[in-house]
Amino acid sequence: MHLDRLYRSTAVKLAAIFFGLFLILFLIATAASFLLVSHELTDAVDDRIRAEYKIISAQLDPEVPENFAQNVQNLSDLRDPQLGILLLTDKDGERLAGNVEAFPVAEGGSTNALPQIKRGDDYAYRLYSRAVGDMQLTVGQSLEDSHELLEITLVNLAWTSGIAICLAVIGAILLSRKVQQRLRPVADTMNRVAGGDLTARIPRLKSADDLDTLSGSINNALDRLGLLVNGMQQVTTDIAHDLKTPLNRLSILIEDAAQQEKSGKTVTPKLEAAQQECDNINQTFEALLRIAQIEASARNKSHVTKVDLSSLIETVADMYSDVASDAGMSLHMAPCHEPVLTKGDERLLMQMLVNLVENAIRHCPAQTIITMAVNLDDGIPAICVADNGPGIPEAERENVLQRLYRLEQSRTTSGNGLGLALVKAVADLHGAQIHLSDNNPGDQKKPGLQVRITFPRASDSKMT
Ligand SMILES: Nc1ncnc2c1ncn2[C@@H]1O[C@H](COP(=O)(O)OP(=O)(O)OP(=O)(O)O)[C@@H](O)[C@H]1O
Ligand SMILES: [Mg+2]
Repeated sequence: MHLDRLYRSTAVKLAAIFFGLFLILFLIATAASFLLVSHELTDAVDDRIRAEYKIISAQLDPEVPENFAQNVQNLSDLRDPQLGILLLTDKDGERLAGNVEAFPVAEGGSTNALPQIKRGDDYAYRLYSRAVGDMQLTVGQSLEDSHELLEITLVNLAWTSGIAICLAVIGAILLSRKVQQRLRPVADTMNRVAGGDLTARIPRLKSADDLDTLSGSINNALDRLGLLVNGMQQVTTDIAHDLKTPLNRLSILIEDAAQQEKSGKTVTPKLEAAQQECDNINQTFEALLRIAQIEASARNKSHVTKVDLSSLIETVADMYSDVASDAGMSLHMAPCHEPVLTKGDERLLMQMLVNLVENAIRHCPAQTIITMAVNLDDGIPAICVADNGPGIPEAERENVLQRLYRLEQSRTTSGNGLGLALVKAVADLHGAQIHLSDNNPGDQKKPGLQVRITFPRASDSKMT
């Protein structure tokens, strides 16, 4: 990994921040324990010299004080002044006995470097000095041992810190590499998407950690983006393809009208036909725009309310029963005695039902029986529009849901092939499933069509 990339790596920055914090805490704790240990060591030395003072001063016999000086001298002869000192002075500070020359010393405990006895090293002495009779006894011990112990502690700390820093740097590099390894596929995928490849997806791991979850969300967003872009491409292609014929027809009609005008014939029928053609083109555009709007409104939930599907179906049945009977058909609604509630956009759901009923009226022959039903199956709301007309062959059921797709048999009837595409867009918006099937599977001639739309349970609805 390049050094500048390492510096810019978030993992390295985070590792450096945490390591910095850890180091500061580590140094504070170390300094505190260093001071504590040094204090404890000095206390231990103080205890020892006080005890020694007590033992030696107890040897004073007030009757023969000169023996005491001799005793002190005997003891100090055995003692290396580098390690410990003994000094007995009279009240004028003159040396009576001891292993050092007399020096001014404070009463009680004190620390003194005593440069007169030190040979090169600079360890100080802890001293304890108090009167014994009319003399002054000073007991001292070099702090060399304590200082050496402290030095060892310091060296240990330095090594520990050094090793910790090395481990932290290695850890940061490894961590950064690991994070880079995880981020690289994300960056590569996004680069491919930016380059126009909308099929690129981030490979998922089984770990389901936060990065993997994020990858999943990005993939979902890319799925949606892909669908939208494909939809747009599809619409563009469909418009180009399906409007070519009516536009050609329009052009021919206008040309014919112009010819007839020149030859003095009446042009009104041709112009009326051209007008009709324009209306059809307009309708197609409007329907396409409407579907695109519904697909794009997936995030706009402003019209979402609680909708009672049974009363909705009743309204549509009322609206279309006369239209059906005018076409020589009958429209029935299976009775439903309880409200079947879902969350959704009432106007769009109504449009969806209208499209299904209009299809049955338009694509079925006279005498057809159309039924509408709504039910609640295990908490799942469903609506069903069925007829006993010619039905839709199984192989075409996916196709008829596409925009501008019409069955060969319907080429002569009016329509744009957009009604079921709108039904699908509305169903998708509500998270509902469309299922097309034969209404009378046993009847080869008139299998009929059953369109069943199941909605998510009110609690699972994404329309909230
Ligand atoms: N109830 C039905 N019975 C038989 N065929 C049907 C039925 N409903 C739809 N179809 C077939 O599916 C095709 C697509 O239907 P769709 O509603 O999308 O378009 P359309 O009805 O032809 O035109 P419009 O855009 O005006 O709705 C129809 O052209 C027809 O061939
Ligand atoms: Mg239709």
